[in-house]
Amino acid sequence: MNGETVGAIAVFKVAVLASGRGSNLASLLRHIEAGHVDAKVTFVASDKAGAGALDTARRHKVAAIAEVPREEGEAAAEYDQRLARLMTAARPDLVVLAGYMRIVGPAVIAAFPGRIVNVHPSLLPAFKGLRAQAQALAAGARIAGCSTHLVTGDLDGGPLLLQAAIPVRPDETEASLAGRILHLEHIVLPRTVQLFAAGRFDVSAKTGAARIAAGDSWLRRPGIDLVSGALYSEGF
Ligand code: GRF
Repeated sequence: MNGETVGAIAVFKVAVLASGRGSNLASLLRHIEAGHVDAKVTFVASDKAGAGALDTARRHKVAAIAEVPREEGEAAAEYDQRLARLMTAARPDLVVLAGYMRIVGPAVIAAFPGRIVNVHPSLLPAFKGLRAQAQALAAGARIAGCSTHLVTGDLDGGPLLLQAAIPVRPDETEASLAGRILHLEHIVLPRTVQLFAAGRFDVSAKTGAARIAAGDSWLRRPGIDLVSGALYSEGF
């Protein structure tokens, strides 16, 4: 853990960027409050004024909350730098993109090298970008799921961290698949943050691949959840 020390307790500080309803943020906050994730969300920012994620942050009494819409006439690079300054001032140990629908620019990425995590609703590297669940259905995928990965300049292409998978049902719609994948996201994203807080990810400088150092297990490694049929694997 490389968090700031408050008294005798080191706090692993997480900043979250979110654009939408904020169910992933809510799940992360619930896992923290339940003691399953040793971290604190100290800052939540949204590029969308009035995003549900901001209400979630208020409800959970996050200390710093910011609405940061891109201003009219503001160039993408200027917005990126403004956001980087704001995020840097929050001094997080980890930045989490929880349903953040904007491409993170080079200034933000450079400010937190290897310390930005995204959750994406597909089994990457398949189905990058928008409407990943619809892409999976259109391609006739039999297995779908979600991934967490490190954010680099390569959209949805940074080193993979955790994944979880479910079988696609014969009568699946985009909405039903999105809902079932979201359930996986709500487990996999908090777990990813916990592994970060515990210093358990080991990213190879050579290949960029992320591995998990041995230790306790929270998700099954690998295993099948008999209720949802979901397959979780943390890798080896
Ligand atoms: C999630 O499916 C996330 O993977 C995608 O957008 C959705 C956000 O949901 N990028 P929420 O705002 O966390 O509820």
